[in-house]
Amino acid sequence: MSDQVRIVEVGPRDGLQNEKTPVSAEARIAFIEALIAAGLQTIEVGAFVSPKAIPQMVNSDQVLRGVSGLNGEFHVLVPNEKGFDAARAAGAKVIAVFASASEGFSRANINCSVAESIERFKPVVARAKADAIKVRGYVSCVLGCPFDGEVKPQAVVSVAKLLWDLGCYEVSLGDTIGVGTPVKARHLLRAVSGAVPMAGLAMHFHDTYGQALANLYAGMEEGARVIDSAAGGLGGCPYAPGATGNVATEDVVYMLEGMGVATGVDMPRLVAATNEVSRLIGRAPVSRVASAINAKAL
Ligand code: HMG
Ligand code: MG
Repeated sequence: MSDQVRIVEVGPRDGLQNEKTPVSAEARIAFIEALIAAGLQTIEVGAFVSPKAIPQMVNSDQVLRGVSGLNGEFHVLVPNEKGFDAARAAGAKVIAVFASASEGFSRANINCSVAESIERFKPVVARAKADAIKVRGYVSCVLGCPFDGEVKPQAVVSVAKLLWDLGCYEVSLGDTIGVGTPVKARHLLRAVSGAVPMAGLAMHFHDTYGQALANLYAGMEEGARVIDSAAGGLGGCPYAPGATGNVATEDVVYMLEGMGVATGVDMPRLVAATNEVSRLIGRAPVSRVASAINAKAL
C-alpha cells in the first residue's frame, strides 16, 4: 500500500462547526494558512449553510476570499441554490453537497428527505458545471444513524450512485457518528465500489468509538486512497447527537508515514497549527499523536 494517498483536511469546517467557542474569520484564515504551511493541499474551509443552523460557519465568504491567493484547493459546503449563489460570489472553485444514507439524519440536518435533497442538488450541480466549479458529494451515516440505527450498505450504495451520476467527481463516505468497525467498513467500501469507482471514493470517518484508523486501514486494503481528517481530531455535527471528532490528521499522517506512504505533511508544523486552534477553542487536542508530541516537548 506504499502508494499515493490524498488527504482532505476538514478541520476548518467539520472541526469548527461543532465548537461552542466561535472562531473569527481572521483566526480561521490563520489556521488554514498554518495547515498549508504544514503541507496540506486540499482543505475544506467553510460552509454556506443557514447561519441559524450552524452559526460557527458565518463569514465563510470572508474565509474563502481570505485564502483564495494561497496555494491549495479549497472546498466549501453548499446545501442548496442559495448557498451556491453565495459560494460562487465568494469565488468557490470546489463545493461539496451533502446527503445522508438515512432519512432520520437527512431530516435533522437539512430538513428534507433524502430524495428531496437529491432534487435540491440537481440545479446546484448543473449550475456548478456551467461555471466550471467542481462538486464533491458526501453521504452521511454510512455505518449507522443516530436516529434510525443500522444503515444497510445498499442504502449507501444507492445515494452514492445518485451523487456520482449527478456529476460529483468524488463521493465521500461519512461515518458521521463513528460507530463503524473495520470489517463493516471493508464491506461498505466493497459494496459502494461496485457502483462508484474506488478512485472516486473518499473515507470520512469520525473517531467517536476509536475505530477510525482501523476502519481507514481496512478501506485502504480494499483500495480506497482518499482520506478526510481534521487537525487535532476536531469535529462533529450538531445535528448528529453523540458525534465527536473526525479522525485526527496527525494520527492519519503518522500511520501513513509508518506504512511508507509519503504525505508531504510536516508533523511539527501540523501540531503547531493544532495547538494554536486548540488554544483558541480552549481545549486540548484529542489526537493521540499530537498529545504524544506535545508531551515530549514539555
Ligand atoms: P430550511 O429551514 O428547511 O430552509 O433549512 P429554508 O429554505 O426554509 O430557509 C430557512 C432560512 O434559512 C431562511 O432564512 C433562508 O434564507 C435561510 P429566514 O427567512 O428564516 O431568515 N437559508 C440560508 N441561509 C444561508 N445559506 C443558505 C441558506 N439556505 C436557506 N444556504 C437548510 C434547510 C439546508 C438551509 C438548513 O437545514 C441548513 O443550513 N442545514 C445545514 C446543516 C449543516 O451544515 N450541518 C453540518 C454539515 S453536514 C456534516 O457535518 C456531515 C459531514 O461532515 C459528513 C459526515 O460526517 O457524515 C459533511
Ligand atoms: Mg463529518
